[in-house]
Amino acid sequence: MPTIVVIGTQWGDEGKGKIVDYLAEQADAVCRYQGGNNAGHTVIAAGKVHKLHLLPSGILYPGCICVIGNDVVVDPAVLLQEMAEMKAQGGEVSGLRISSRAHVIMPYHRLLDKLIEQSKGDKKVGTTGRGIGPCYEDKIRRVGIRFASLMDPESFAEDLRLNLRMKNEVLTKVYGESPLDFDQIYNEYLGYAEQLRPYVTETSRLVNQMVRDGKKVLFEGAQATMLDIDFGTYPYVTSSHPIAAGACIGTGIGPHSIGKVVGVAKAYSTRVGEGPFPTELRDATGDAIREAGHEYGVTTGRPRRCGWLDAVVLRYAVEVSGVDCFALTRVDILDQMPTLKICTAYRIDGKVVTDYPANLRDLAKAEPIYEEMPGWQCKTFGLTHYEDLPENCRRYVERIEAITGCRAGIVSVGPDRHQTIVRESMF
Ligand code: IMP
Repeated sequence: MPTIVVIGTQWGDEGKGKIVDYLAEQADAVCRYQGGNNAGHTVIAAGKVHKLHLLPSGILYPGCICVIGNDVVVDPAVLLQEMAEMKAQGGEVSGLRISSRAHVIMPYHRLLDKLIEQSKGDKKVGTTGRGIGPCYEDKIRRVGIRFASLMDPESFAEDLRLNLRMKNEVLTKVYGESPLDFDQIYNEYLGYAEQLRPYVTETSRLVNQMVRDGKKVLFEGAQATMLDIDFGTYPYVTSSHPIAAGACIGTGIGPHSIGKVVGVAKAYSTRVGEGPFPTELRDATGDAIREAGHEYGVTTGRPRRCGWLDAVVLRYAVEVSGVDCFALTRVDILDQMPTLKICTAYRIDGKVVTDYPANLRDLAKAEPIYEEMPGWQCKTFGLTHYEDLPENCRRYVERIEAITGCRAGIVSVGPDRHQTIVRESMF
């Protein structure tokens, strides 16, 4: 079945955007299945840099259907801005389809995101502040506003009134904020509704029909395994399911409709926001990786925490998403490193642990057990054949494969579409 789910195997920012963009060239549809504008994908095509937050990466290919699935939370102002930018750069957005079941991020979600974070003090998650968590909270609380409601002024008025009654209580009494005004939000959002109406539809039927017709469909996860609400480093996670199973819930396909799972893994580790990160390097090596890799958030501009590759994390990601092969990215960023380390297990209270622990206290004590390998100290940037990689680089790739039991089907050595080594056909 020519359907592929692309997931992040670490803490996000693995380069999924580039891999999805690369695969999208052959795809009939690209479906984003969770998250919102907390995500940031950088795609470089024909020398132009595109920073995408909500638009699926396939948007750069005219004719590709780009679905924003039901488990994506959409800030309409951000989406409209991104669509406008795409058009201004000569792109097209006519292939966009937004699920009528997707939830809408409202001004009170953004406000509450910040207030809740502030009230947590040093227990803050370090969210992107885009209202993601509060919007998913409302969805689960069964008071969220979906596109289906936004498209119907009467339903929207009813939903907004109920929400403002509840939210204004909290905003004024708990946080001492001013209440939000119904008319202002109502009129603003009706304006968004009119602009987005042509794109809103029942996407699950559309996607299932494409799968039945044997079309090539890509499912694009945002964030990554270690930020998954169940399988990540809870509570330092996002509020949705970036793992492969999220593609089913987030677009309305059955598990048998997934042909292949590609796990995007960066050749080293990074994390933004708070939370455990056993292989973090708070030293000159970490700084060197950050500078070589320009590791600053696309969405918030925050410097990313950097560290060695953690194979415990990769093995875990392979297991919980049933990853068939890796797309190993940003290998070229390590070109100048004299030695490299791969974490194969942790030592916790004197015991060797090879599975990712659920308990944060255990993780806080985890000392990485490393294998050290010589670097290759020459340029891999832009190479397109695996055999052309320096021997030590191939050894690094193959050692990762051996430790995780998962092949690297793609090796990426640069941000452009064409700076990609493909070792097996994907569709
Ligand atoms: P939220 O998704 O804004 O609620 O943030 C929750 C956690 O997920 C924070 O640690 C964020 O830094 C992290 N996060 C959210 N989106 C991304 C992403 O696209 N890449 C990396 N980290 C992310």
